[in-house]
Amino acid sequence: MREDVVAWRRHLHAHPELSFQEHETAAFVAAQLGALDGVEVTRPTATGVLARIAGGRPGPTLAIRADLDALPIVEATGLPFASEREGVMHACGHDGHTAILLGAATVLSRLREQLPGELRLIFQPGEETLPGGAAALVAAGAMNGVDAVIGLHLWAPDPVDTLVVRPGRLMAACDVFRIVVKGRGGHIGIPQDAIDPIAIGAQVVAALQHIVAREVDPLEPAIVGVTGFHAGDSVGVIPETAVIAGGTNAFSPAVQELLERRIGEIAAGVCAAHGATCDYEWTPGYAAVMNDEALTARVQEIARELFGAEAVRGGTPLMVGEDFSAYGQLAPSCLVLLGAGNAARGIVQEHHHPRFDVDEAALGHGVRLFAHAAVELLSSLPTTSVSLDPNKELAR
Ligand code: NI
Repeated sequence: MREDVVAWRRHLHAHPELSFQEHETAAFVAAQLGALDGVEVTRPTATGVLARIAGGRPGPTLAIRADLDALPIVEATGLPFASEREGVMHACGHDGHTAILLGAATVLSRLREQLPGELRLIFQPGEETLPGGAAALVAAGAMNGVDAVIGLHLWAPDPVDTLVVRPGRLMAACDVFRIVVKGRGGHIGIPQDAIDPIAIGAQVVAALQHIVAREVDPLEPAIVGVTGFHAGDSVGVIPETAVIAGGTNAFSPAVQELLERRIGEIAAGVCAAHGATCDYEWTPGYAAVMNDEALTARVQEIARELFGAEAVRGGTPLMVGEDFSAYGQLAPSCLVLLGAGNAARGIVQEHHHPRFDVDEAALGHGVRLFAHAAVELLSSLPTTSVSLDPNKELAR
């Protein structure tokens, strides 16, 4: 499969599409899947693709997920298959995820008569942008009857030929907030008659740092990040308002609740101290990616058999968000980080960088991992289901 998978990845890389605009990408995926025997393809959302491969006998249902979207970045890799769309780039490896799952679909469709149960292949739009594409696919029934779900993220900070299979906390929940500081506009030379939202907003930004430093349990990871501050457009004018935007990351729901409440209280308090008011908006983002212990132990074993024990690490939790968690809230889930960096070949840029690239050897590893995991898990999941959901098993 390797040449095909690399060719698909390069095609997708050259033709990136932004979140929820993945029309050509979804059509390409649907066409590739449609050419395979025994693969039922549906389009549950405008740019999402769902494929079903029914096995030759009854058994569990395993879902495997890939994401389709690119980022608003001007590519600077100089690769022969670099983006042909100015300002749009596959700078997170989702082109690779899609190609890998197409490769796995090809292999597994050929094995379908020998497989028990059902494979559900989810190609989702919009991983990079809230509210995320996973929620709409879940709402459209993509997870109905699914006993377990797996996925992978190419991970360039880790070297190719290695992978992280981590039980429990893998990626943090992420939420976003927006504060509008409302002062009173006026002349910069008559500040006593104005209420300056820029000076007050600056204090709000500084005061927000206090939450993680002094209010969150030091043993619980948390981030409060301000990523936007917009106010004013003239040297002589104190503007009416300042808009502060940012995001938070945490694993513990209690910490999430604390951040949501305290950001609003601190903004309101600092504003009140200076005679201003504020509007505060909190938008829930993605839940934390929590890898199921039992399923992840199985995937660890499979990965060790395929790539050697020394290639598989437990890694550490990451504070970035991933809407793979939307599937994990409905079934035991495991997201793997597949090493894709290669310092010797200069593939060292971080994700979302204009020169981001992956070592394409990782694509073959991804296909092998998904294909073997599908075969192994479809054969062993009923046992897993007993321990996870006795009522369901009793009802059989
Ligand atoms: Ni990504």
